[in-house]
Amino acid sequence: MSTSTERPLIKVIVGSVRPVRVGDQIAAALAPVLAEASGARVEIIDLAGLALPMLDEPMMPAMGNNQKPHTIVWSEMVKESDAVVFLTPQYNGGYPAALKNAVDYLYREWSAKPALIVSYGGHGHGGGQSGAQLRSVLEFVGLDLVAGNVELTLPRDSYGADWRLTDAEPIVTSHETPIRAAAEALGARLRNKAEAPVAAGA
Ligand SMILES: Cc1cc2nc3c(=O)[nH]c(=O)nc-3n(C[C@H](O)[C@H](O)[C@H](O)COP(=O)(O)O)c2cc1C
Repeated sequence: MSTSTERPLIKVIVGSVRPVRVGDQIAAALAPVLAEASGARVEIIDLAGLALPMLDEPMMPAMGNNQKPHTIVWSEMVKESDAVVFLTPQYNGGYPAALKNAVDYLYREWSAKPALIVSYGGHGHGGGQSGAQLRSVLEFVGLDLVAGNVELTLPRDSYGADWRLTDAEPIVTSHETPIRAAAEALGARLRNKAEAPVAAGA
C-alpha cells in the first residue's frame, strides 16, 4: 500500500498469458490514461511473467497460510497495490483460466480492494461475457468493484501478420470516454478510502 504522502498505486493485472497475445500491448496503452484520470500511479502485473502453476497451495487460500514462494510473491504484488484493474480478453464466452487460477490463489488480499474490470474482444464485441463472469467471481471474493465494466472492441484490422496489434493506442483512444469515467470513479474511491476515519481499535 502507498504511504499517506504518495499518490495511491493502481496495478493493472494482464489476464492473458499466451505467448502471442495483445493484452500486454493494451495494458501499456491503457496505463497512462488510467493514471491521468485517476490521479494514481499505475504499474502493470503480467501474469505471464509470474507463471503461476495451477493452484498448488496445500491449504485453502481463505486460511491465509500461503506456503509456496510463487504465492508469496503474488500475494505481495497485490498487497502493495491500493487498487487493481483486471484486464481480461474473452475466450469462448468467458475469461481465461489463467486469470481464474490467479484469483483463486489469494483470498484476504482481495478483501475490499477497490477494483475495475476492463474486458476486450473482437468481432464487434468488447468481451462483455468475460467481464460479466469475472465480476461475479470478484464480487464473491469481496473486491470493491466500481460500477460498470469497460469493454474494448478490437477491430479486425488492428492485428498485424504476427497476430500482435499494429498499434494499441487507437483502441484505447476510441474508448477514452468510458475508460476515463471508470478511472475517475476508481480514483474517487481511493480518495474516499484515504479520507475515511480509522475505526477505533482497527
Ligand atoms: C482460446 C481462445 C478463444 C477465443 N474465443 C473467441 C470468441 O469466442 N470470440 C471472439 O470474438 N474471439 C475469440 N478469440 C479471439 C480473441 O479475442 C483474440 O485472440 C484476442 O487477441 C485474445 O486476447 P489475447 O491476445 O490478449 O490473449 C479467442 C481466442 C482464444 C485464444
